[in-house]
Amino acid sequence: MPFSKRYTLTQYLIEERRRFPSASGDFNALILDLALACKAISRAVAFGELGGAMGNHDADGAHAINVQGETQKKLDVISNEYFTRLTEWSGHLAGMASEEMEEPYQIPARHTRGKYLLVFDPLDGSSNIDVNVSVGSIFSILRAPQAVIDSGRDVVDADFFQPGATQAAAGYALYGPSTMLVLSVGNGVAGFTLNPNLGEFMLTHPNIQIPADTHEFAINASNSRFWEHPVKRYVDECLAGKPGPRGKDFNMRWIASMVAEAHRILMRGGVFMYPRDTKDPSKPGRLRLLYEANPIGFLMEQAGGRASTGREPMLAVQPTSLHQRIGLVFGSRNEVERIERYHREPVQVELTNPLFAERSLFRD
Ligand code: AHG
Ligand code: MN
Ligand code: MN
Repeated sequence: MPFSKRYTLTQYLIEERRRFPSASGDFNALILDLALACKAISRAVAFGELGGAMGNHDADGAHAINVQGETQKKLDVISNEYFTRLTEWSGHLAGMASEEMEEPYQIPARHTRGKYLLVFDPLDGSSNIDVNVSVGSIFSILRAPQAVIDSGRDVVDADFFQPGATQAAAGYALYGPSTMLVLSVGNGVAGFTLNPNLGEFMLTHPNIQIPADTHEFAINASNSRFWEHPVKRYVDECLAGKPGPRGKDFNMRWIASMVAEAHRILMRGGVFMYPRDTKDPSKPGRLRLLYEANPIGFLMEQAGGRASTGREPMLAVQPTSLHQRIGLVFGSRNEVERIERYHREPVQVELTNPLFAERSLFRD
């Protein structure tokens, strides 16, 4: 298609805004600022070793550890700076929260405060940045509580404790062979590809829909001994393939970069699981609710897929802490519903006689 027939991100946002004649344009301006942050991060990532920004972030000569207890990469810190610096000035935000900041980020006094809250994972998959795998940025836009807007006070953790269903917008940028921005403003999901010559995101995937069925699943199988029964059952049945209860062969994927897995699933279906497990009782899941599970869950649901904890819809969960972790299952609707059903069904008593027990890689 010739260039002139393609929408830019700006055109798309203006068209979407026409649905709300009274909208001020703040929201669109905020998304364009976020897109600029993503373009800047895309460049920083693309320079790789040449950019001098690979490896761990050093704080006072030691490796910095973030609030998650994870080593911060230099690019985690740089990406976090791009997000805060390119959005704080605009007057659209009341505050921010990020994977890389323990406390909410306050809009500096020299800037006007606005009506939205921004929550983000500046660089998802960053533990793999040194091996040149696709990484991305994930963001969620919430409305600030009215009391915050009225008073202009500093934000506190509880201001962000809003169920995912209330998100005004969610999206991610993926820094892969091409850079893409995938966005939902609550009216379906649109994908944009960065034209590196123009520095513009062009609408290339106007109405992303996830197929309801799939034969691909993604899970970190090294955790199998910690999985709960419904997850073991689901994976066992997939592995059993054509002769098994599912009657078809499955393919397995694990990139260890959730944003890249989410993108694959949005493009061609599949199911992703980082479920609650028994590995560390202090951590109910690996991924974080506010800036990983909720925005990705919003995109999945907007694209006709589903996101769940296994026990309840992800977007219904009432958050209770800023960096809360949660079990996450998302992707093709029929598979996620099946996994939810397995969580509801009582554990089946299995044959204990080894002569009759089926052999299984992941059996407990
Ligand atoms: P982050 O890089 O933002 O800390 O998130 C990493 C996450 C996610 O992207 C990925 O799916 C998961 O960690 C990988 O976990 P494993 O190390 O268990 O494979
Ligand atoms: Mn992440
Ligand atoms: Mn991250």
